[in-house]
Amino acid sequence: MRKNCMRILITGAHGLVGRALTEQFQSHTVFALGHRELDITDASAVNRVIHELQPEVTFNCAVIGVDDCEENPRLAEAVNVAGPAHLADAVRERGAAIVHFSTNYVFDGERGAARASDQPLEAAAARATAGNGCAVPNSGGRAGHRGGTSTRTGTAQSCPTKPSDFYTSDDEPRPVNVYGRTKLEGERAVVQRCERAFIVRTSWVFGEGKESFLSTVARRLASGERVKAICDIWASTTYVADLVRRVDEIVRTGPPATYHIVNDGVCSYAVFAREAARLTGADVSLIDQVTEAQMLRSPRPRCTPMRCLESERLGLAPMRPWTAALADFIAAG
Ligand SMILES: NC(=O)c1ccc[n+]([C@@H]2O[C@H](COP(=O)([O-])OP(=O)(O)OC[C@H]3O[C@@H](n4cnc5c(N)ncnc54)[C@H](OP(=O)(O)O)[C@@H]3O)[C@@H](O)[C@H]2O)c1
Repeated sequence: MRKNCMRILITGAHGLVGRALTEQFQSHTVFALGHRELDITDASAVNRVIHELQPEVTFNCAVIGVDDCEENPRLAEAVNVAGPAHLADAVRERGAAIVHFSTNYVFDGERGAARASDQPLEAAAARATAGNGCAVPNSGGRAGHRGGTSTRTGTAQSCPTKPSDFYTSDDEPRPVNVYGRTKLEGERAVVQRCERAFIVRTSWVFGEGKESFLSTVARRLASGERVKAICDIWASTTYVADLVRRVDEIVRTGPPATYHIVNDGVCSYAVFAREAARLTGADVSLIDQVTEAQMLRSPRPRCTPMRCLESERLGLAPMRPWTAALADFIAAG
C-alpha cells in the first residue's frame, strides 16, 4: 500500500493508540470514530459505516481492558472477539485492509519468569537505565502470520532475561487471563476472515492521553507523590508515538502478517518508575515496590518481552530502547 492519501477508519479512536494514530495519519482522510460514534459489537452499524466511508485501511483500537475482562467475560467476548470479526467481514467485502491491535498477554510469560524474578531489582534497574537494550538483529524464515524457524544473535546483557525469552510470532500463544484469551480469539477471527489482515501485538504502551501507571508515573513522582510499583512482572514497553510511526511504515511497505511492535529492552513497572524518577530528578524513595499479588489484580503473565521477526525480515530499523523513548515522552510533557 504505497498511497499518499488513503481513506482511513479508526475504531476506538479516543483511546491511547487511537488518538496517536489519528495524529500520525493526519495527512490522510481519517474517520476517527469513538465508542459513541461506532460500537463495533453492532454488526449492522459496522457494515453501514464501512459501506458509507469506504475506508482502504481500518485500524481497530477498540478494546476491553484486563481487569474489566475478568469482571465481565461476556462483554470481553463481544468487544475483543465479535467486534473485530464484524469489522473483518465488512472490510473483506470491500477488498480493503484491516490493522488489528493485540497484546503480549496472548503469551503465558513463563519462559523467562524464573530468571526475571531471580534478578535483584537494583541490578536490573541499573542495566535498564544504561539505555543499551536488547538489540536483536538477524533472522530467517517465511513471511506471514506464523513464520518459520529463526536464529537470534543479539545479546541481552542489559536485560534480566535471555534472548530466547523474547516471544516472536513463531511462538505458540497460551493466554493466562480472559483478556489474553479474548485478544487471541480476536486475532484469529480477523485473520480467518480477511486476507489483508495486519495483526500488531504491542505491550505496556505509554503516552499522552491515558491515566495509566506508565503514562502518569513520571508526572506523579516529579510532583512528589508516592507511587506503588509492581516489581515482579516484566515485559517490553512501548511509547505510543514510536508504535504508530512503525505501524505507518508497516502499512505502507509490509505484507499482511503478525508484527510485534515494542521498544527495545525489557522492564518491570518498578524499573520503569525508577527510570522515570532518574529522568525527572525525582526522589526514588517515593517508589514503594509491591508484588502483583499485593495489588490484588487479575492474573498477568510474568515475563513477556517480545521481538519482531517480520520487521527484521523487512529490514526495518530496530526500535529504539524504551529508556530513550521515555526520555522523549517526559521532555514532550
Ligand atoms: N495500552 C496498552 O498498554 C496496550 C498494551 C498491549 C496492547 N494494547 C492494544 O492496543 C489497542 C488499543 O489500546 P488502547 O490502550 O488505546 O486502549 P484504550 O485507551 O482503553 O482505548 C480503547 C477504546 O476502545 C473503546 N471501546 C470500548 N468498547 C468499544 C466498542 N464496543 N466499540 C467501540 N469502541 C469501544 C473505548 O471507549 P470507551 O472508553 O468510551 O468505552 C476506548 O476509547 C487494543 O487492541 C489493546 O489490546 C494496548
